[in-house]
Amino acid sequence: MSLKRRVFVVGAGMTRFHHKMHSGKSGRELFVEAALEAFSNVDKGIDRKDVEGVFTGYFTPTYYEHQGHIGPLVVDWAGLDNVMGWRTESACASSSAALITGVLAIASGLFDVVMVGGVEKMTELPTEKVTDALSVAADDDYEIPAGVTFPGQFALIAQVYFKKYGVSWEQLQSIPIKNHRNGKLNPKAQFQEEIIDRARKIGRERGLNFRDELDFLKSDYNRVVAWPLRLFDCSPISDGASATILASDEKCRDFTDTPIEVAGFGFATDTISLHDRTNYTSFKASVEAGKQAYKMAGVKPRDIDIAEVHDCFSIAEAIAIEDLGFFNRGEGVKASEEGRTAIKGEKPVNTSGGLKCKGHPVGATGTAMVYEVWKQLRGEAGPRQVQNAETGLTHNLGGSGASCSVIIFKR
Ligand code: COA
Repeated sequence: MSLKRRVFVVGAGMTRFHHKMHSGKSGRELFVEAALEAFSNVDKGIDRKDVEGVFTGYFTPTYYEHQGHIGPLVVDWAGLDNVMGWRTESACASSSAALITGVLAIASGLFDVVMVGGVEKMTELPTEKVTDALSVAADDDYEIPAGVTFPGQFALIAQVYFKKYGVSWEQLQSIPIKNHRNGKLNPKAQFQEEIIDRARKIGRERGLNFRDELDFLKSDYNRVVAWPLRLFDCSPISDGASATILASDEKCRDFTDTPIEVAGFGFATDTISLHDRTNYTSFKASVEAGKQAYKMAGVKPRDIDIAEVHDCFSIAEAIAIEDLGFFNRGEGVKASEEGRTAIKGEKPVNTSGGLKCKGHPVGATGTAMVYEVWKQLRGEAGPRQVQNAETGLTHNLGGSGASCSVIIFKR
């Protein structure tokens, strides 16, 4: 599988992800905010008339906002008159599906410039309703009536992983601890704090003294959500949007001297129901999407300098970095404990703070990962910059791994 025409990212933008600050704004307004930043981040400027299509990931707009027909809505609100535009949906991988749609539109020769992005406006509903909205990414015949939720599914996966590899919940905490360290350095992140900062704040308020991060994480202030997963094992509920501008080989230099190439991608699927799978410690769709992307980009896992992976729950990051071939089976947590996935480690993972700390407005997540990789590969990631990053990867899971996109970018 190869692209008939090369495609480049020439601009990207995103709102801050947050659970409170976007109160009262609609999804379309958030998308416009991200789109305006993407336009303003095009080095040599861009005329909105150059954009020939807009593809937008939004998982459940009808549920959150009683709003369908997102495609023309965001085209109109972003001031892009009369162009092709529709919504893509693949649960949490919805905006990665938008990006792949945009890449195909350019690679086919149809268009030269498109905008792709995503949005989710989740916080107008209470948590139990959000949990219900998210659950429709699971199987409505076999799973949802049994009370299956996503924290519940990943809790099962964590239990199997712990038993199979002899890993403890305490060891797993190295992942959210690292992601909060990174997220504190990211002005777009929902929680701009390390876990130790939260521990100290709660300690001050309640007259408590937590010895260290783990002492806090083991306390009741880090409540159990679905055993063994606790609050800090979970990505939060968030509002936000992200947008990326793609251009063809022929046009990209009109917009920037530093285009970032979409060098390869893969998108694969698996059974939607967890109970139909024989292996809970690997996601078949991740492995397959990874293989497709590596092949198309002509690179190996060792060539990836930075990766944004789908840590919707802490255990998901451990499995992702094994599925992508960065670490051996059963060694993802150990790699994290040893600092190998930290910003200064050999394989920096989730420099943005990941879904855990940056936030996870479902439809916006895929192209927000692209935003981080784009910043890193251009050397614009500020205090979280990875030195000499030339090849980056995004890994975006839908549901409990029923779909997955892996996209590889090169400077
Ligand atoms: N990590 C750290 N802190 C969190 C948090 C998280 N994941 N979620 C919420 N908080 C904090 C909030 O900041 C809030 O504090 P504040 O008011 O001082 O800002 C406090 O905890 C209470 O927040 P609240 O919204 O009442 O929490 P909740 O109990 O209703 O929801 C979860 C917590 C974990 C249940 C919810 O975030 C959740 O369902 N996450 C998973 C989402 C999901 O499944 N996504 C799809 C993945 S496939």
